[in-house]
Amino acid sequence: MRNIQVIGIVGAGQMGRGIAQVAAQTGYQVVLFDAFKNSLDFGHNFIKTQLDKGVEKAKWNAEDAKSSFGRIRATLDMSDLKNCDLVIEAATENKMLKFEIFRKLDEVVKPDALLASNTSSISITEIAAVTKRPSLVSGMHFMNPVPVMKLVEGIRGLETTDETFNTVAAVAEKMGKTFVRAKDFPGFAVNRILMPMINEAVYALYEGVAEVKDIDTAMKLGTNQPMGPLELADFIGLDTCLAIMNVLHEGLGDTKYRPCPLLKQYVAAGRFGRKNGKGFHTYDK
Ligand code: CAA
Repeated sequence: MRNIQVIGIVGAGQMGRGIAQVAAQTGYQVVLFDAFKNSLDFGHNFIKTQLDKGVEKAKWNAEDAKSSFGRIRATLDMSDLKNCDLVIEAATENKMLKFEIFRKLDEVVKPDALLASNTSSISITEIAAVTKRPSLVSGMHFMNPVPVMKLVEGIRGLETTDETFNTVAAVAEKMGKTFVRAKDFPGFAVNRILMPMINEAVYALYEGVAEVKDIDTAMKLGTNQPMGPLELADFIGLDTCLAIMNVLHEGLGDTKYRPCPLLKQYVAAGRFGRKNGKGFHTYDK
């Protein structure tokens, strides 16, 4: 198994900043890269706020928070990832964008480093194939909010070696997560099951079966979920939910995965959920 000391993160959005925080708190050196200064600054400051909140709640002490934050180096220059032992990509759920990022990572990161994607549905085999090191590429799918959720879904591409997969499993476990193994099929295990449930909730709304509040309350209280499916869709991001449904629909070729027209319409209208204050529910920005 590889010895991982320095972890690079691509993308300082809601997933990337969470992974960076947990990795730093585990003791890894972290290089947090984002191509956009606003996102990088926002993500970096968000981690500081989360670490400070944890001190107020006595989850950890001020000294640990400070040293964890000190282990994170934020950068706008991708070549600063060159000495990382493992780079976890957590950019927007867009296939072409991920291909472009992995092509660039393959050029800038040392040749024997592992590369992982936090993709929620895109094929790891295809992502790996754009690099010259497919055996060193795997999926490492964290759940949102990363510091709270206990799962990492590991996805093995066709060429991923045992050493690569066992190393990312060990990293996830060191971060305090449970690692489950899934094969490289559209949506893997989590979103193959979760997204059709969310999409069906949108259909129930679209067809007038029940109102937003009642759908969420029914599933929250009736099936003991922490959030109703429409609230959860807002939390994940409606654009991300739509992107995942499209991957399931195209990849599995079954009409049962067609995204609900109402979900498409909300995304077209710019209702992305919690991240911009408006989805099935409205939020203070
Ligand atoms: N970062 C860090 N910690 C956070 C947080 C965040 N963004 N949001 C909440 N928390 C922490 C709070 O600090 C709090 O911690 P303490 O109990 O130690 O004080 C704890 O989580 C509970 O938070 P709240 O009391 O504010 O709120 P809550 O009880 O309603 O819980 C929740 C919030 C944890 C998000 C809960 O509603 C939940 O578990 N929701 C479901 C989340 C889920 O299903 N995530 C997976 C989505 S699917 C995915 O991510 C993968 C994909 O590919 C789409």
